[in-house]
Amino acid sequence: MSELSNNSSVNAPLGSLDEWEDDLLQRYPDPTTIAGEKKVDEYRNYEEPTRDTVREFYRLNHQFQCYDFVQEKRNNFLRFDKAKMSIWEAFDFLNQLVDDSDPDTDLDQFQHLLQTAEAIRNDGHPDWMVMVGLMHDMGKVLCLFGEPQWAVVGDTFPVGCAFSDKIVYPEFFSANPDFNDSRYNSKYGVYTHGCGLRNVHMSWGHDEYVYQMMKDHLPEPALYMLRYHSFYSQHREGAYEHLMDDHDREMFNWVKLFNPYDLYSKNPVAPDWNAIKPYYEALIKKYLPESISF
Ligand SMILES: [Fe+2]
Ligand SMILES: [Fe+2]
Repeated sequence: MSELSNNSSVNAPLGSLDEWEDDLLQRYPDPTTIAGEKKVDEYRNYEEPTRDTVREFYRLNHQFQCYDFVQEKRNNFLRFDKAKMSIWEAFDFLNQLVDDSDPDTDLDQFQHLLQTAEAIRNDGHPDWMVMVGLMHDMGKVLCLFGEPQWAVVGDTFPVGCAFSDKIVYPEFFSANPDFNDSRYNSKYGVYTHGCGLRNVHMSWGHDEYVYQMMKDHLPEPALYMLRYHSFYSQHREGAYEHLMDDHDREMFNWVKLFNPYDLYSKNPVAPDWNAIKPYYEALIKKYLPESISF
């Protein structure tokens, strides 16, 4: 792991976290009607140099996200002993991840959460799903705790079994220590057929972190949306059916329902915060305690 120094290009190959999400729009450029006025082509304003940073990002992600790395991060961050904040303080904290280079929007992290939530609300979904929209990227605060980008964002995937070739840039897994480890490199690895995703360790990032943060506060479909929203090789490609059970399959209908709101709800026009603030204050009061542990 000598390459894991404090070298910033190793920790932060992306110009901003949103370059990963822009790349997702390249790969999955099919917004549904929820995007409103914006046309598909307008999401694809994407320059080649960004591609190189995304490629480098995945090279590092696939090299270092091995089974042991995930256990180490779980043992550290799932103690939730880093900070205690009210949800409003947490939004302010998250907004320190300001993004100057996203071609789609100059809106901050909170705006993305709010726009995702508003798109869900406007379609008349249950209020706990609006909460998912509002909270789903809160785990990106991991970056503010000094974690490298490739341990915070990016497509997630199971560790402890063979890496699917349906995961973006699968060729980079050959540098992962698990790639040649016979405990982890067979189809099932440490798992069994249909064992259920609750028994599967995913690569570490903002999804698992926010799921663990919210797991006592939201209903199960919401928790699936949070936990697997970046698991594109399953919810878009169906590459890990063999690890899922019937319950996962049922719950993944919710994950798939959520995904377009995350990808395609960005809009340069910010919602009128003063008008919607009372709704969100009441919503947060309904579901979350006064303060959240990070
Ligand atoms: Fe996310
Ligand atoms: Fe998001």
